[in-house]
Amino acid sequence: MHYERPQFFHVMQYAASADRDVVDMVSGNPDWEPPTALRDGLREYADADPDEFQYPPSEGLRDLREEIAARRNVDADRIVVTNGTGEANYLAMAAAMDRDAGSEVLLTDPVYPYYPGKAELLGGDATLVPTERDGSIHPERFREAASEETGLILVNTPNNPTGAVYDRETVAELERVAAEVDATLVVDEVYDHFDFTGEFESALTLDSDRVIVTTGYSKSMAITGFRVGYAVLPERLVDAAKTRHMLVNVATSRPPQAAVLRALRETDADYYADVRAMLRERVTMFTDALDAAGAEYTTPEGAFYVLARFEDFPGTMENAKRLIDEAGVAGMPGETFGSARGEWLRFALVTPRVEEAAARLADYFA
Ligand SMILES: Cc1ncc(COP(=O)(O)O)c(C=O)c1O
Repeated sequence: MHYERPQFFHVMQYAASADRDVVDMVSGNPDWEPPTALRDGLREYADADPDEFQYPPSEGLRDLREEIAARRNVDADRIVVTNGTGEANYLAMAAAMDRDAGSEVLLTDPVYPYYPGKAELLGGDATLVPTERDGSIHPERFREAASEETGLILVNTPNNPTGAVYDRETVAELERVAAEVDATLVVDEVYDHFDFTGEFESALTLDSDRVIVTTGYSKSMAITGFRVGYAVLPERLVDAAKTRHMLVNVATSRPPQAAVLRALRETDADYYADVRAMLRERVTMFTDALDAAGAEYTTPEGAFYVLARFEDFPGTMENAKRLIDEAGVAGMPGETFGSARGEWLRFALVTPRVEEAAARLADYFA
């Protein structure tokens, strides 16, 4: 079977092999320091007893799950520690679709491309539900699209690529839509620490047995290479997810779990607030330059991406490559995020060179 492969690495490789200097605004790899305690935790791990170098419990280190449970106000038994939010999404989607009824998956348009890929991998049929111009969603559109074929509704907030943050009532209404057709709602909250509105609330507060929340530390602790995330599942789905995780992975690697645990315990709120403040500055710097370039753009309420639309320069793969070669800036073509943003390009603000990239774009499109 042929699965569609997300194009992020393709564009990054193209940019890396270009003949000129290129500012990479493709990858979602944070460029800032992880928490100090994370580095301490890793160093400490190097001197641990050999028995701590052996298999961890498959569903995650007990202490880490208990720490997460206390912070999220859920029972630790509902948590599976995964290889990043990516695996948590896969487990959540598999759990939701493991049923004797239709296998339709409702996603947003634009969409984070790994979702339709995973839906296909799991034998589901993805339907993209349009979002509004500013990235917000109307649950009514999901209600119109939902049917007894729908097994899963999956959304991501704060959102990649639109930067929208959905309010609690919107997510609560999506849960009601899911209930009407006996489906499961999965909410990917991997950007939960990057909310500029102060309004973001986790879907865990809905306390619903048809909601699965997924998240991880890749972005919040600036450690996309560590691969630590987790899913919080309702009791009725958690055992199947643990079994699938065990069969596919055996377990998630121990040292990064231990380092994340130490960082959770020892990192105060200032660490996250400082990163948010830095990102806000980058957003302003970048969108000012987009104004100068005469571009249309979305100002993110959360996460760290800006969607921009330049006159007569649609967001095709060909144009993304042209921008790399001719302007020295690499962004993701909007056409890779579903069908709604084919005219747009997505720029990730996780580079210290945002100002330089902005100047290059302003020059190129002036
Ligand atoms: C919406 C969304 N979900 C999941 C992921 C993957 O996160 P992780 O590195 O925790 O697997 C990303 C990464 O960019 C993302 O944007």
